[in-house]
Amino acid sequence: MLKGKKFILGISGGIAAYKCAHLTRLLVKEGAEVQVLMTKMAKEFITPLTMATLSKRPILVEFYNPENGDWNSHVDTGLWADAMIVAPATANTMGKMANGIADNLLITTYLSAKCPVFVAPTMDLDMYTHPSTTRNMETLQSYGNILIEPGSGELASGLVGKGRMAEPEEIVEKLKAYFKKKASKKLAGKKVLVTAGPTHEKIDPVRFIGNYSSGKMGFAIAEELACRGAEVVLVTGPSSLSCNHPNIDRINVVSAADMYKACEKVFAGCEIAVMSAAVADYTPAVKADQKMKRKSETLTIELKSTVDIAKALGEKKKENQFLVGFALETNDAEQNALKKLNSKNLDLIVLNSLQDSGAGFNVDTNKITIINKQNNKKDFPLKSKVEVANDIVDEIESLME
Ligand code: CTP
Repeated sequence: MLKGKKFILGISGGIAAYKCAHLTRLLVKEGAEVQVLMTKMAKEFITPLTMATLSKRPILVEFYNPENGDWNSHVDTGLWADAMIVAPATANTMGKMANGIADNLLITTYLSAKCPVFVAPTMDLDMYTHPSTTRNMETLQSYGNILIEPGSGELASGLVGKGRMAEPEEIVEKLKAYFKKKASKKLAGKKVLVTAGPTHEKIDPVRFIGNYSSGKMGFAIAEELACRGAEVVLVTGPSSLSCNHPNIDRINVVSAADMYKACEKVFAGCEIAVMSAAVADYTPAVKADQKMKRKSETLTIELKSTVDIAKALGEKKKENQFLVGFALETNDAEQNALKKLNSKNLDLIVLNSLQDSGAGFNVDTNKITIINKQNNKKDFPLKSKVEVANDIVDEIESLME
């Protein structure tokens, strides 16, 4: 899978830089070409001679050779590669990547690269859990970079926790899986509808009924589908998330009624629809034109039910259309998910149980079970929402025949 592929390996200054010798060796053994870029600090952890010998190419550190003015073109290097791997990615390097601070060759090459970029963070536990690190990792993912999560264990400082750079074997596996997916053209050009986020049901001009959905799961699914060549229409309720993939056409909606209107239009031309939005089941029967005033000790708002979008699309579904729903349950999870699969005429249902810690709204992780029409059930461990999106799309792809 990696034979003939060209990789830029950007090494920043962390103790895990020593693992890059093995990573380079593995990539070269697979028949890949590796161009190593190092930051100045990285050279303190592993020698250029080691990396040049293993990669069979001179490594690059500086913008130019001060002896003869020979320029190391970050643009050419960036365009040469099929993928860039930043490993280890220190907090400093990720901060620069997230904010475009182009003060070394690794960052300028990253900014010029048009290829997918894999980022393998490493740092001490306290740095890893700092909000700025979390924010930078989220920003990098929002640019479409692929995060290779660090493992847990004993860290260089002696602290125990998350922050160990992924092992070279795991990085190679991730690269192989990526290129395998890219080679599969099953989803290329397919029109897909994805719903995401919450809906806001207006009570009066300043108040609404909503829920805690952030849209993270739906956005990650849209990104994953788009990366595999699908043409995605993402119909999303209010969400602060951004998506920049050129294959994603985003339609912003507010209420369940707006979402239904948008989906109805798009669905007819789609082969796949993934309903990951947390749509309100009820909306105020009357929406006040003016701000409601405090009048009495209690207030009753009459609600009427909204359209069940997944169900409505399930009723319209044609032979060649594939419909995926979600079920968020607090009790009798599997039983309820199966009921929804059948009553909404879905082909697949993704169950998240709120009883699992780390699953559900407004967190970066999810733990899912996928059930298909034949009642085949697959349980997945707790993973990042990006990885969960990958599993869901894998499943859709495998059932698309
Ligand atoms: N859904 C939808 N439109 C609605 C309500 C739900 O499209 N008005 C979709 C969701 O996007 C999800 C699936 O239906 O794919 C199940 O949603 P969920 O909220 O778990 O279940 P409900 O059908 O609303 O049932 P309940 O709230 O009673 O569990």
